[in-house]
Amino acid sequence: MRSHYCGSLTPDHIGLQVTLCGWVDRRRDHGGVIFLDLRDREGIVQVVFDPDTEQYFERADRVRGEYVLQVTGRVRARTEDAVNPNMPTGGIEVLGKQLEILNSAATPPFQLDEYTAAGEDVRLHYRYMDLRRPEIQQRIMQRSRITGAVRQFLEREGFLDIETPILTRATPEGARDYLVPSRIHAGKFYALPQSPQLFKQLFMISGFDRYYQIARCFRDEDLRADRQPEFTQIDVETSFLDEGQIMDIAERMVRSVFEDVLGVELPDFPRMTHAEAMQRFGSDKPDLRIPLELISIGELMEQVDFKVFRGPASDPAGRVAALKVSGGASISRKEIDDYTRYVSIFGARGLAWIKVNDLAAGTPGLQSPILKFIPDEIVLELMRRLQAADGDIIFFGAGKASVVNESLGALRVKLGEDLGLLATGWKPLWVVDFPMFEALDGGGWTSQHHPFTAPSCSVEELRASPATALSRAYDMVLNGAELGGGSIRNHQREVQFTVFEILGIGAEEAQQKFGFLLDALKYGAPPHGGIAFGLDRLVMLMTGATSIREVIAFPKTQSAACAMTEAPDAVNLQQLQELNLRLRHENPAG
Ligand code: AMO
Ligand code: AMP
Repeated sequence: MRSHYCGSLTPDHIGLQVTLCGWVDRRRDHGGVIFLDLRDREGIVQVVFDPDTEQYFERADRVRGEYVLQVTGRVRARTEDAVNPNMPTGGIEVLGKQLEILNSAATPPFQLDEYTAAGEDVRLHYRYMDLRRPEIQQRIMQRSRITGAVRQFLEREGFLDIETPILTRATPEGARDYLVPSRIHAGKFYALPQSPQLFKQLFMISGFDRYYQIARCFRDEDLRADRQPEFTQIDVETSFLDEGQIMDIAERMVRSVFEDVLGVELPDFPRMTHAEAMQRFGSDKPDLRIPLELISIGELMEQVDFKVFRGPASDPAGRVAALKVSGGASISRKEIDDYTRYVSIFGARGLAWIKVNDLAAGTPGLQSPILKFIPDEIVLELMRRLQAADGDIIFFGAGKASVVNESLGALRVKLGEDLGLLATGWKPLWVVDFPMFEALDGGGWTSQHHPFTAPSCSVEELRASPATALSRAYDMVLNGAELGGGSIRNHQREVQFTVFEILGIGAEEAQQKFGFLLDALKYGAPPHGGIAFGLDRLVMLMTGATSIREVIAFPKTQSAACAMTEAPDAVNLQQLQELNLRLRHENPAG
């Protein structure tokens, strides 16, 4: 029905007769001439109808916003005063000769160019209309190019695309499962996969050697801007490669995608240990675009009277850290109060600070609510160590190391954004040498990555010291986002059993939950490992979106619902009976 896309017309087409199909973006009546901006996925072009084409002029007069048209006409240059430099097709227009109205349209629920006024709920309810907006359409098309580039790279490297089940058994990745009741097996449930983790390991045991899948994953967890209950992974697993080789493939993949899709050459990916990342940035996904670092000052504070600092300074699980912001002394008291409230979200009990007004004057040249608690010579030594200069502000966090890291780490990012300190461009890195386990509040351990990750020490050392054992896991971080994570796996049963044991999963429970994997490990499991990337996060970063909702065609709302289909929804009594389910509260669907 068409010869060209609206947005693909250029001055090269001047003089050519074209047929276009698209939606009416705007209609204007300019004293006897009608201008229609016609839109398709490639862009917008202006079509002009004048009264010479009587029949079609009348039709053009009847069309309204979002009508679907087929237009035939001749491409011509716009007159000089009509050129629109803000529009890619702004130098040309199409003089309409024929017009078919393929369909009319009701008044849209919101103006596509005034979508921000509509509110996200309305936009998600009419998502198919929201998806007509050129900005979001660009992102969705970019997503398709990105998956295309990923596939091309992986196919070139000998990876096989193999699917894994969606109706399956729990795959522990640290979130709650989505469960599906079985009709045939009364009282039993499938779980939707949190990732294809166990299946991809089984592929290695089967000998496929290099697997990948653009895989949908399901996790019932608290949602944020970078988390959806169903999301997509670029999932990869390999055999007979060590972590360095797997990281190399993963890095080349991301480089290749950036080059193919954005024409961007990424800088080096430095490798940083988890311990260093926590020390310097308070985060295992540091945004290296921000030139601020945390500095531990515990050893200076062990003897001071100020209990808030002395306590954590002498506690092995505590931390006292400083965050210096050059030129930050102009931050107002009100802003400091706002930052204090901000860090309290992460459990910080307060936010001490020192403003450096005139260092040459000694402590009288400093301004702070805590100076009175700390001897002058320690304050001055602190200034030396932090290389403080006039005009700086220094923030302090003291308490449990995890709270200090999280709160000052988040403050670092917030200050970076508020003060415009972010360097432009891309700052990737690898974080390596993660701890195997994290201590649970009530005692016991949980996996830092997942229970199938191999330790970098022997089984004996692992048993002796779960707190300090490191794993063979690695995360790829880009501009402060965790883009992907993976590890070398336990291919020896004994090691896998030991990990389960430390996690408090006894032999019986392990057999019941993961018996198929433990059995498979008996039959010649090769050394293997892999990685999974968050595709939505990758697309979000590459398109400059601020939420993964903007790069998912039909995302869920903050409350994990679909505003358009209104899923999840109640089911009727008969369906419940078939599934052998009874609700504890009355079923609203009756
Ligand atoms: P992990 O749980 O780290 O590892 O997930 C891998 C990547 O998936 C992305 N991601 C998410 N994206 C959007 N919404 C979510 N709710 C969400 N959760 C995770 C992140 C993350 O880095 N099986 C292992 C991988 C492996 O070991 O090979 C796994 O799933 O970008
Ligand atoms: P206070 O003695 O509670 O009045 O606190 C004195 C200063 O120390 C105030 O600026 C508090 O914000 C700050 N402060 C209190 N607790 C902490 C903490 N755990 N970490 C950092 N600063 C704190």
